[in-house]
Amino acid sequence: MCGIFGYVNYLVEKDRKFIIDTLINGLSRLEYRGYDSAGFAIDGDKKNEVFAFKEVGKVASLRKLVDEAHIDTSKIFDSHCGIAHTRWATHGPPSRTNCHPHRSDPNWEFAVVHNGIITNYKELKTLLESKGFKFETETDTECIAKLCKYVYDAHPNMSFTDLAKAVINELEGAYGLLIKSVRYPHEAIAARKGSPLVIGVKTQRRMKVDFVDVEYADENSPLPAETASQNVALRKAATTAGRAFLSPNGLLGSADKSLLHRSQSRAFMTDDGMPMPTEFFLSSDPSAIVEHTKKVMYLEDDDIAHIHEGSLNIHRLKKADGSSNVRAIQTLELELQEIMKGKFEHFMQKEIFEQPESVVNTMRGRLDVANHKVTLGGLRSYIATIRRCRRIIFIACGTSYHSCMAVRGVFEELAEIPIAVELASDFLDRQAPVFRDDTCVFVSQSGETADSLLALKYCLERGALTVGIVNVVGSSISLLTHCGVHVNAGPEIGVASTKAYTSQFIAMVMFALSLSEDRSSKQRRREEIMEGLGKISEQIRSVLEQNEKIKELCSQKLKNQKSLLLLGRGAQYSTALEGALKIKEISYLHCEAVMSGELKHGVLALVDEDLPIIMILTRDDLFKKSLNAYQQVIARGGKPIVICNPGDEEFQTSQAEKIEIPHTVDVLQGILNVIPLQLIAYWLAVMEGLNVDFPRNLAKSVTVE
Ligand code: F6R
Repeated sequence: MCGIFGYVNYLVEKDRKFIIDTLINGLSRLEYRGYDSAGFAIDGDKKNEVFAFKEVGKVASLRKLVDEAHIDTSKIFDSHCGIAHTRWATHGPPSRTNCHPHRSDPNWEFAVVHNGIITNYKELKTLLESKGFKFETETDTECIAKLCKYVYDAHPNMSFTDLAKAVINELEGAYGLLIKSVRYPHEAIAARKGSPLVIGVKTQRRMKVDFVDVEYADENSPLPAETASQNVALRKAATTAGRAFLSPNGLLGSADKSLLHRSQSRAFMTDDGMPMPTEFFLSSDPSAIVEHTKKVMYLEDDDIAHIHEGSLNIHRLKKADGSSNVRAIQTLELELQEIMKGKFEHFMQKEIFEQPESVVNTMRGRLDVANHKVTLGGLRSYIATIRRCRRIIFIACGTSYHSCMAVRGVFEELAEIPIAVELASDFLDRQAPVFRDDTCVFVSQSGETADSLLALKYCLERGALTVGIVNVVGSSISLLTHCGVHVNAGPEIGVASTKAYTSQFIAMVMFALSLSEDRSSKQRRREEIMEGLGKISEQIRSVLEQNEKIKELCSQKLKNQKSLLLLGRGAQYSTALEGALKIKEISYLHCEAVMSGELKHGVLALVDEDLPIIMILTRDDLFKKSLNAYQQVIARGGKPIVICNPGDEEFQTSQAEKIEIPHTVDVLQGILNVIPLQLIAYWLAVMEGLNVDFPRNLAKSVTVE
């Protein structure tokens, strides 16, 4: 995930210092979205000149770079467009070259900042290279800038909007993007598909006509009379700007027939009909805008916004998709601090609720459910070797270790290769034997965990093939492993890992699916799992709808307890382990995960009428055996909270408190079952008044042994 920010002023005099400060400040607000490098592009001193600054590291490093450049910051611009970006690398490691903005050519004719993934960038790159374009970076974004120049060179009279449409029509994947060009000075294009973009509008005080909508009309669909006659000044301004004309019947019409029906103009003007001095703030989220203005407009997928001479026009990418292009101006009601976490109180809560999207990001461009195909580009050259290895050893710590535990069964079943799952520190302590024909898989959110990193070096020294399953692109583990998969969950800020767990889980299931691609006996099962993955995002969303119920349950049954048992069997033992870790680290409540089959071998002695117990009892092949543990608890007077599938008749008559979780393929059930446990940990911590995002004694990335 990255953050993009843009600033456009029109008839508002600002010096370069203000413009740079505004861009850098915007990036700082977005830094939580990605912080491996940052950059911006602004106008230079001469006509058609662009100043671009890019630096690796946090936004503070970019600020230092700019300060050291000693450019003239007093130069005044009454109209200007600047674009900026803070990066969370997906294609190409963090470096000045790979950092945005990206350019069409050494003269920066077109500059682009982009959030998302262009999945067909290789094809576009090949095409553009064949036309003589020289690529400088390893990013997918660069092809957008170069495509702009390619289209412009072929059609130099095209409007900026039409050029943007031509370019964006060629893009596949997801994007929130801003384009700036010396060919269209002081104008900006903002477009979105699958990646958020919001535009803040700030006008001068003397404005009387505030945010009047002018919809272009044509003879078949004249504007309503009241709009047309609204204000002479309004029409005057629109026609003066050359973007609209008065039709013979006195209605506003578009000068450009191709825009009819598909564009909306926001005319900002003074009461005497002059164009309004206006500032626009464009951002991937409102946290970077709220300090400038609370008037915002959210773009929707396939919107292309064109900012030009103080007006904002929204066009639809597809000519006849029939959807409205009217985007209401909304007033932000949240304060800056709140908005940093969106509508959420804590980053952990936000990240729990992001999971319907983060799991989709993990699968995007990789899983094709319709054709039952998985493509993991980062493993492509090694998959045949891994299929032939003598065993796969998963090595990780904490939550990442639990995700490995959760997928052990699916690897054994699909790949039919012996699987070991190791805690990195223990693996090193034992100096466990590793051989050249082993595949060692390192799973880590941060990619910097010292224990995992040392274990990786240990395996490399012994000649094993190493694979990284990592969230942070460019991190040590992702760089040192031979190959790997980025889990693409986006930056995780809350110390307690939540969305990284579910995304690791899914990335590894896709890995197991890739390994078994050549096994005809596994095809039906593989298809079943892929179909399950196709539905998982919606199912997570429905689990999250139980948030209030779970909060209530915490307050009534779990708050102020001294200890809690969490029981699971088979793959659900790893869910219990992960749930127990979340509860311990965030709420400081002692919580122990117990494998249900082991209950009778000792832990049962703890069970009485008072000890709170949560039992994971969703249906799978082990359900009958899991019920034994349930009966053992009930027989001792225990009152377990049961995590089960909706309407499971086994529990219909029981008094047990139930959390009902949708049913999915057995090997994916843990993705859904862990969500109520994340919510329980969260609400218990909140009820105790604890610092949810920064629990005591813990750090997000553990870089010491
Ligand atoms: C718990 C948690 C930790 C990490 C562990 C490994 O919520 O986040 O247990 O999972 O420190 O970290 P990574 O995955 O960055 O290697």
